[in-house]
Parts: sequence; C-alpha cells; structure tokens
Amino acid sequence: MKKAKIAIIGGTGFKNLFKETKQLRIETRYGTASPLSIGKVNAREVVFLCRHGPNHSVPPHKINYKANIYALHEIGVERIIAVNAVGAINRDFKPSDIVIPHDLVDFTKLRETTFYDNAPVTHIDVSQPYCPTIRRLLIENAQKTGLRVWDRAVLVCTEGPRFETPAEIEMFRRLGCDVVGMTGVPETVLARELEMCYAPFCFVSNMAAGVQEGLTPFEVAKISEKIMPKLEQALISAVKALPIPRDGNCPCANALKDARLK
Ligand code: HPA
Repeated sequence: MKKAKIAIIGGTGFKNLFKETKQLRIETRYGTASPLSIGKVNAREVVFLCRHGPNHSVPPHKINYKANIYALHEIGVERIIAVNAVGAINRDFKPSDIVIPHDLVDFTKLRETTFYDNAPVTHIDVSQPYCPTIRRLLIENAQKTGLRVWDRAVLVCTEGPRFETPAEIEMFRRLGCDVVGMTGVPETVLARELEMCYAPFCFVSNMAAGVQEGLTPFEVAKISEKIMPKLEQALISAVKALPIPRDGNCPCANALKDARLK
C-alpha cells in the first residue's frame, strides 16, 4: 500500500482532485472506507478521499466517518484538509464566499463520535478544534483566489439529511453560529483522537433556511462548478506550503499526551 502524509477529503460539489487515478477501497476494523485515490501535488503524495462514496451515494448521516479517518491514519496521513459546502447563517456571508471556521458546535444526534469507547478513558481537548497551521495556510492561499474569505467563523454541524427549519437556523444564529453543514462532526474530533491535524475549507453554497426562500441540493452543484477552479488552486498551493515534517506548533500532534487519567 502506498503511503501519504497529507489528505484532502472532498464533499458535495468537490469530487476528485486526481481525475485519472485509480480508486481504492480500504477495509478497516471499523468497516470499509469511502473510495480514495493517491496522487501527487508537486513531489508530495496526497490522498484524496471522496466522503460521500461512489457517485455521491452515501448521505451525511450514514458516512462511515470512523472507517474513513482510520483508513487515512493507516496510510500514514498526518494532516487533513476537509472541503465542505455550507449554508450561511450570518447574513454578511454570501454564496461563493470561502470560510475557514475556527470553532464548531455539534448538533448531530446519531453518530459514533469516538474511537475511545473503552479503557483507558480518553477526553480529548478541543479548545482549539482545528489545526492553526493548516488554517493559516488555507486563509493565505484562499485570499489569493480573489474570492471573499472569512478567516473566522463558527460552524454548526446538523444531523441531516434534511435541511434545517427557519426556527433552527434562527436559534443557531442567536447561539453565535455563522455557517451550517452536515459533515464536520465527527470527522474533526476523530482526526484529533488519532493526533492528526485537521482543518475545514468551506465554501458557501446557499443562504441558510429562512434567510433565502427555499433550498435544494442543486445550489451546491451550481456554486461549486462556478468557483471550483479557484478552490482547487487554493488547495494545491496550501498543500505545497505545508511544512513537512509537522512543526509541532499545534495542539494536534500530541493530543493524547494529557488526555488520559491513567
Ligand atoms: N444546511 C446544511 N448543510 C448544508 C447547507 C445548509 O443550508 N448547505 C450546504 N450544506
């Protein structure tokens, strides 16, 4: 099996970075991971994992997040950039804007959110849920695209697969949430539990429910088609700029060090 230290997780509207590369299916102790392919960005091996499975067949609440993150860990991945389409709750944000959230709120209900169901009891610190090194590079490289970039935002993750009601979105707004998506949790937490760096690269595909009149998944496709070349460029330049080996200036690489009482 080829190894790679960097992964990009693609979501709705972002299908593959390596168009010609063969897709692999990896079996893990948690089940089969979503299809992934390994290609090169500059001289660096990079894994691309397609979160929603073959032909976008797996809805957000049915994705096997544990298998996906574990498979990346087994390949040797230390850093993950996760692409997410999001709805804008904050009315200053608009479709096509890029958002690099700094914090998250978990409103999922039915997902398996930990690798640590047994002893030793493990409480991972998520005071800074996203890797600051990857965030900085994503922000810097997104700013070169000419698209509007929000360098701080709170992401709320909902269970889906339905969109939210206007009352839910108004509640999230009052709680201080800026954008809403369905896949940020448990990916973020599982990556931290395996001491992998993780940061989201979001683009606004729509205004959230109640802010615009109705919602369809086609908006994601329309907006992503429009801005995808710029998103890809920003991602590629961020990957090229990632310091290797990890410089240790983040809370990710030693996340387990103080996470256990014994
Ligand atoms: N809600 C939840 N997830 C989403 C949205 C939304 O409005 N847009 C894109 N992903």
